[in-house]
Amino acid sequence: MTRIIGVVSGKGGVGKTTVVANLGAVLASEFNRNTVIVDCNVTTSHLGIHMGLLYTPVTLNHVLKGDHHIYDALYEHESKVRIIPASLAVKDLSGMDLTKLRSYLQDLFGKVDFVLLDSAPGLGREALATIHASDEVLFVTTPYLTSAMDILRCKEVINELDLKELSPLGLVLNMVENKKHELKSTDIEKLTELPILATIPSDRKILQSLALKTPIVMLRPHAKPSIAFKKLGAAILKEKYNSPRFSRLIRWLR
Ligand SMILES: Nc1ncnc2c1ncn2[C@@H]1O[C@H](COP(=O)(O)OP(=O)(O)O)[C@@H](O)[C@H]1O
Ligand SMILES: [Mg+2]
Repeated sequence: MTRIIGVVSGKGGVGKTTVVANLGAVLASEFNRNTVIVDCNVTTSHLGIHMGLLYTPVTLNHVLKGDHHIYDALYEHESKVRIIPASLAVKDLSGMDLTKLRSYLQDLFGKVDFVLLDSAPGLGREALATIHASDEVLFVTTPYLTSAMDILRCKEVINELDLKELSPLGLVLNMVENKKHELKSTDIEKLTELPILATIPSDRKILQSLALKTPIVMLRPHAKPSIAFKKLGAAILKEKYNSPRFSRLIRWLR
């Protein structure tokens, strides 16, 4: 069964694209799941840049305009994840119908395990189109009240849309520094009524990996944020994650 997961947040800059890039790479390379990541933030698209994908003659824009089949817009990454980028050209924004996103994605149903949708922030047209196209929603927040409150607002809007089939998966708590002024995980879970599936530390290496246009899980697979992304992958698959050190111990005991 294909799982379509929308990665959303109320606030911009909280790490949605970083989560999609790294979770996609982890599901494909670490867990061997056939995974496609889609840039649904068509007005300010960044997913291609995160993945080092700069030349993309066919994009989601072309698919949504009905000019190309979705298969023509798939690009394979070294991690085995496949990317459907959005166009960086402003002219490609006209004439495409985002409300048809789900119907185009249907061509992938039954053929891939995961489709991760990288949403635009907020609750505008692009973000709502992503939510409508999703089966499940993964929220990304930072440990600050503004960001957590925006998740609440997102949840309220989703409730009002009355999308009965849509299930909220949980939260990714990103950019955690464990400083006193940050909200505690338990308080965020209480406030949003969502479980935290993974906590990603704030780490300069994530910015370096963006500069090198490679997800941190590929560039520094043993760095703390990479381990956290692997735990997120395991949580989504409802599997237990054994850290590399622990796996070595298990192999030795066998
Ligand atoms: N855990 C983190 N530690 C440090 N920098 C991060 C972390 N997560 C994301 N970033 C950086 O923050 C910026 C915004 O992240 P991005 O994924 O583009 O957010 P969004 O898609 O929600 O707008 C990027 O420069 C990214 O590299
Ligand atoms: Mg983004």
